[in-house]
Amino acid sequence: MERLIAPSILASDFSDIAGAIKLIETAGGDWVHLDVMDGSFVPPITFGSQMVQAIDTITDLPLDVHLMIERPENHIEDFAAAGADYLTVHAEATVHLHRLIQRISDLGVKPGVSIVPSTPVSALQEILGEVDLVLVMSVNPGYGGQKLIPGTLKKIEQLQELKQKHGYRYRISIDGGVNGDTVSEVRDAGAEVMVAGSAFFKADNPSQVVAELKGSG
Ligand code: DX5
Ligand code: ZN
Repeated sequence: MERLIAPSILASDFSDIAGAIKLIETAGGDWVHLDVMDGSFVPPITFGSQMVQAIDTITDLPLDVHLMIERPENHIEDFAAAGADYLTVHAEATVHLHRLIQRISDLGVKPGVSIVPSTPVSALQEILGEVDLVLVMSVNPGYGGQKLIPGTLKKIEQLQELKQKHGYRYRISIDGGVNGDTVSEVRDAGAEVMVAGSAFFKADNPSQVVAELKGSG
């Protein structure tokens, strides 16, 4: 199974974003994970589509945009125009998830859906055939550097089973608390994309972290 690493710039030095993107490229990261927070769906505010657009001008890596915002339907055009490759919305943030996923696809962007730890996989049943990414939050969203909640891993197993059974196309991503201590469980559960914030940016040797998470280190 192909495994991808998506370092999250949330844990990087915001006074040197270009340096953070360079580091993701040189260390062998596959995607750039961008955590957009609005101070409402989650307490902190990070950055918006202007930042995504600026990053798009300096890298060819896919931009994996994770929207932790209320009313995502009001913002997807901006993020699509900014160069998002994957645009992931929270199932908890909108009633009309199906329509939103459709609109993201129509904009030529790969749609993703995410669930917080308290939301079951069954909430996604009607949408799984329509998305390119399912992002399982393994911590409560809002902050980097938290501990992975072990109970969330069974959702990855369930999503793998459903994917195989129905032939769905989505990749399964895990976000939160992925590091050298948790990665073997994460891999065993069947995660295909691993988001890593602090494990990557706080490391002395980020290339080694990428190799370790991929299982080749
Ligand atoms: C948390 C964000 C994560 C965060 C992960 O709300 O969605 O992407 O950057 O950080 P770590 O890897 O430090 O848990
Ligand atoms: Zn994220």
